[in-house]
Amino acid sequence: MSAETTPRGVGRRRLLFGGAAAGLGAVAAAGGHLAGSRGFGQGSTELERAGLDEAGSNGRQTVPFYGRHQAGIATPPGAYAAFVALDLREGIGRDRIRSWLRMLSDDAAALTQGEPALADTEPELARNPARLTVTFGFGPGLLAAAAPEKAPAWLAPLPAFGVDRLEDRWSGGDLALQLCADDPMTLAHAQRMLLKDSRAFAVVRWVQPGFRRAYGTEKAGTTMRNHFGQVDGSANALPGSPEFDRVVWGDSEIPAWLEGGTSMVIRRIAMNLDTWDELDRRGREESVGRKLDNGAPLTGESERDEPDFDAVTGLGFKVIPDYAHMRRARPDDPRQRIFRRGYNYDAAPEPGGGVSNAGLIFVAFQADVTRQFVPIQQRLDKLDLLNEWTTPIGSAVFAVPPGAAEGGFVGEGLFS
Ligand code: HEM
Repeated sequence: MSAETTPRGVGRRRLLFGGAAAGLGAVAAAGGHLAGSRGFGQGSTELERAGLDEAGSNGRQTVPFYGRHQAGIATPPGAYAAFVALDLREGIGRDRIRSWLRMLSDDAAALTQGEPALADTEPELARNPARLTVTFGFGPGLLAAAAPEKAPAWLAPLPAFGVDRLEDRWSGGDLALQLCADDPMTLAHAQRMLLKDSRAFAVVRWVQPGFRRAYGTEKAGTTMRNHFGQVDGSANALPGSPEFDRVVWGDSEIPAWLEGGTSMVIRRIAMNLDTWDELDRRGREESVGRKLDNGAPLTGESERDEPDFDAVTGLGFKVIPDYAHMRRARPDDPRQRIFRRGYNYDAAPEPGGGVSNAGLIFVAFQADVTRQFVPIQQRLDKLDLLNEWTTPIGSAVFAVPPGAAEGGFVGEGLFS
């Protein structure tokens, strides 16, 4: 039997692993559970309530895989991420894509719950999911091959921007997998298992590892900092809020391409830390319009304060300059909002290229790329002081399907 027709569903998995993948509730993705134990806040001990096991370790924490939406979007971001893009092999059509997605979903479902993948060669490495999530995104090539009639109009490379210096090695892709977890070994293992599943169907186009603060370094829920030292993500809508739902999952005015789905834009943006070093603290704060110590707007005291874009200094200059990144990124149209969930990267310095080769894997989720992301990027392209130190070097757009129902697979809707 070929890989295309091998039945590799939950039925077979149940047979092998005694129902390991079964019984996982379609719980909202934002929460987390302890593998083989009760949920956060439900335990009888302090450790259980904090989502830790009896030794105080966080490795057994899990995020449900199945649900209305895919995990890894509204989920509090794990400390580490791997963004993987694959290209279909020649001749892989609709039926084989279906088998591939089924296989990837089954293994992602298992791995995220601390169970080994179906043909796991190192099952012990799967025991600590550490809040692993796997989020699937479909590129133009996958939809063209599997269900061209379902492809949203915005699923194409972004329009060209003046600031772009895009490299092929960080751009495009037929399938994206966003893997996030609080442990880098978990990620490496999950990535390898999913790539082993993919061998017959696709080749790796690019892999981008990213990171935030390690688990436990800061209080959970602290907004991340980027390599410029800036608090990055303050203006994001809160996952679970009506605003978040509108921005990410859409509504009747700006619907998502599939009910429960969204879109994912990934931009690799190099940050020139060597020239950033030359800027004084005041200039750094004015380039964004926020304070470096706590991320408060220059017109406020704390991170969540609303900025006052009209406030002027004694000399009549705007406190938040017109060229400030935050000012430019916040259009008057309240529908032009995105949800940012990026990760830092820090690669080896290039020969003769300064002491660092660092930047941001900028990741934005929104219901409609053309109506939400593109106008913001166009404004930033025209004017944004941050452009002085940042350069987009990679770009990709993916249609994110809804989550899978228990026993189903991600992308099943393409085949109905
Ligand atoms: C390396 C590149 C970038 C850096 C270092 C950066 C950094 C920041 C920082 C520090 C803030 C203020 C705090 C916050 O609300 O998060 C911010 C806000 C924001 N950024 Fe960026 N950003 C970058 C690229 C982009 C890109 C490419 C876009 C979209 C095309 C974007 C869209 C936004 C938006 C929408 C806001 C919130 C504006 C508001 O409503 O207050 N950023 N960014």
